[in-house]
Amino acid sequence: MTLPIASGNTPGAHESFDSVDATQAALAARHYIADRGLATAIYLALKRHKPLLLEGEPGVGKTEVARVLAESLGTTLIRLQCYEGIDQATAVYEWNYARQLLYIRMLEARKGDPAVVASEPGTIADVFGPEFLIRRPLLQAVDASHARPPVLLIDELDRSDAEFEAYLLELLSDYAITIPELGTLRAETPPIIVLTSNRTRDIHDALRRRCLYYWIEYPTLEKEYAIVLTRVPEAPQTLARQVVAFAQALRGEDLFKAPGVAETLDWLSALLTLGQVELTEAAARDTLGALLKYQDDIAKVTGGNLLAKLVEKVRASLRG
Ligand SMILES: Nc1ncnc2c1ncn2[C@@H]1O[C@H](COP(=O)(O)OP(=O)(O)OP(=O)(O)O)[C@@H](O)[C@H]1O
Ligand SMILES: [Mg+2]
Repeated sequence: MTLPIASGNTPGAHESFDSVDATQAALAARHYIADRGLATAIYLALKRHKPLLLEGEPGVGKTEVARVLAESLGTTLIRLQCYEGIDQATAVYEWNYARQLLYIRMLEARKGDPAVVASEPGTIADVFGPEFLIRRPLLQAVDASHARPPVLLIDELDRSDAEFEAYLLELLSDYAITIPELGTLRAETPPIIVLTSNRTRDIHDALRRRCLYYWIEYPTLEKEYAIVLTRVPEAPQTLARQVVAFAQALRGEDLFKAPGVAETLDWLSALLTLGQVELTEAAARDTLGALLKYQDDIAKVTGGNLLAKLVEKVRASLRG
């Protein structure tokens, strides 16, 4: 299968997703470095029209998959950010009560004018028609009006509650949404669905079963270096290598929250902003807040001689 693909922001560029290698290359062209396992999951999700459930620690690139996919496919990204208490009215649809009310008032006002009623017949039942519907992200995703199937990102699903998760089952297996007053709306071409979770709670088996699943690990040193090179190409090589090695070493320490890739990139940018060309203990100490987000973790690293040890270790490993 070759998906109808045109590039989002590079006119003329076409990115193919018709093999695992091509998928990996298409993502890399948009500065996303995917392992073969992730590229395979994405390729299969596209080819088999299956939703893709991505889990992993914060900042390992889950959300970014959906963004980059939409860009490479030249299609719209529809994003639903989940939160505790998210419901149908914010996620799926809502009736436009104000508009319905106005319409009913108009009907009442017109009653006395048979000429108008004859030319524009209307009944109370019309208020449950499509024009009174406010389409929220999930309904937008099954809307038939898209030229290309959009990418639907259901982000941080673990923040929502079990009822909302149950609601998603129909969408994930049939690409359909039922609105009691209108019937079942089904996407002509299924949207590409990416769900993410940080595993703050378990996602139910019924939902998992409907998806392809992939766990995004913290990257290896080589992968993280490749990410840094593609995302911050202006960084001096030595500094980039040192920063990556430091972040990798930190993940081996007993911290409350180890840094994700997002933090590595942020830290590198902070050091660049300060004009650093190499990692020094002083610069690392001053900028550690870009990498670690909890005072306990910062205290642990800066308290004893851990910081000096880690900086020396990464400098030595690059000399060797
Ligand atoms: N494999 C990768 N290739 C390129 N960039 C990456 C990769 N992984 C992460 N990044 C970078 O890290 C940033 C954070 O990624 P993203 O927001 O997707 O993480 P996340 O897993 O969704 O985190 P959270 O759980 O906190 O939402 C991205 O903007 C991107 O720049
Ligand atoms: Mg995310």
